[in-house]
Amino acid sequence: MTTSLLRSARRCALALLAPLVLSMPAAAAKPVSNGLALTPPMGWSSWNNFGDSIDEKLIVETIDAMVANGMRDAGYQYVNLDDGWQRYKGNRRDRPLEFDPVRFPRGIKYLADYAHAKGMKFGIYSGPGQTTCAGYTGSEGHEAEDAKLFASWGVDHLKYDSCCSHKEAPVPVLKTIFGTMSRALMAQRRGIVLHACHCGWGQPWEWAADMGINHWRIGQDISDDFDYPGNREKYYFDVLDTLDRGIGLEKHSGPGHWNDYDMLIVGLNGRSKELVGAGASNVEYRTHFSMWAMVGSPLLAGADLRSLDADTLATFTNKEIIALNQDPLGKPAEKVRDDGVLQVYAKELADGSYAVALLNRGSATADMTLSLRRDLALTWKKYRVRDLWRHQDIGTYDIPFTTEVISHEARVLRLYPVAE
Ligand code: GLA
Repeated sequence: MTTSLLRSARRCALALLAPLVLSMPAAAAKPVSNGLALTPPMGWSSWNNFGDSIDEKLIVETIDAMVANGMRDAGYQYVNLDDGWQRYKGNRRDRPLEFDPVRFPRGIKYLADYAHAKGMKFGIYSGPGQTTCAGYTGSEGHEAEDAKLFASWGVDHLKYDSCCSHKEAPVPVLKTIFGTMSRALMAQRRGIVLHACHCGWGQPWEWAADMGINHWRIGQDISDDFDYPGNREKYYFDVLDTLDRGIGLEKHSGPGHWNDYDMLIVGLNGRSKELVGAGASNVEYRTHFSMWAMVGSPLLAGADLRSLDADTLATFTNKEIIALNQDPLGKPAEKVRDDGVLQVYAKELADGSYAVALLNRGSATADMTLSLRRDLALTWKKYRVRDLWRHQDIGTYDIPFTTEVISHEARVLRLYPVAE
């Protein structure tokens, strides 16, 4: 048999087996929830800027910076160590899971305690494989032991990453590996938010929420680009690719279980030690931040927070945009109009108001018109418009609202009904 025939025979056998596997009792298990992440997690993660070049000093300085620059008070709670905190590279069957004592001389508990003392939370990273994506020892077969270790350190968030170790795994295997860690974490009775990171392969939005998983990546890693032609290295997604990837997935995301569009690239400016990409303009980073807020993605900053310029800090701390993301209704924005490069996204909010993003993906400034009846199916006779980047009420209208939107900008508006 040729290789391709062998592959298709294997695919057929898997297709025949799939209904049997799915009807097994384990798959029919009752949905479980840890009751956490009722709004999308907000914080910082070490990966996008630093890769595995992380140490105790960086984490302490980052926590201090978030307190001093107002990010903690704007809602950024989690400080998450991504891959690279571990002592050993190589297979778990040969090496234990321990923190690197040179880079983390006072241990991980010291950092979790430090975060807690500053009113923040602390996250860590592992994966179900023998090794993690960056080649460090994974948690395969040691889920109960590792969950206990993380809880003993005071961990509040786990990014559990299988996109390198189980890239081709079928859904029942993914459910088993993530379900095992989810149950192990819940057994700690500590309240640990679980991120199932699998690059969107295996459609986690269809099954992860029922297993107590709080967020799952919808695509491959983001690159530091707004709109790169094609995929960099045939792998990375830019901002617009990632946004498009979420279209149609909105209904799977809500309080306790979120589509994760990946960590923010705001402020990387093409200087990341880890991510590919040339960087983006301030307008593009604001658009990226606005759209992640609108669609209800976790907002995990990825830049070096110890040295932010004023524009970047203003983006991160725009409380009116953050309020859209943290709205208790937890309804992700949907694309309600698509005129090619001019698109309208809308999000209903708990107080009955609506958030709208007028997104100009094109290369020229354009006039964009929002019609409440046509775009939002709203019958309000009069409405007040507030601009969430200019922090201004623009006016009260009883006709469609038209405004100029520059290239790559998202004008983000909040609309309130006005009584007659
Ligand atoms: C994968 C993930 C990234 C990061 C790295 C760490 O690529 O998608 O977000 O966690 O692994 O090795």
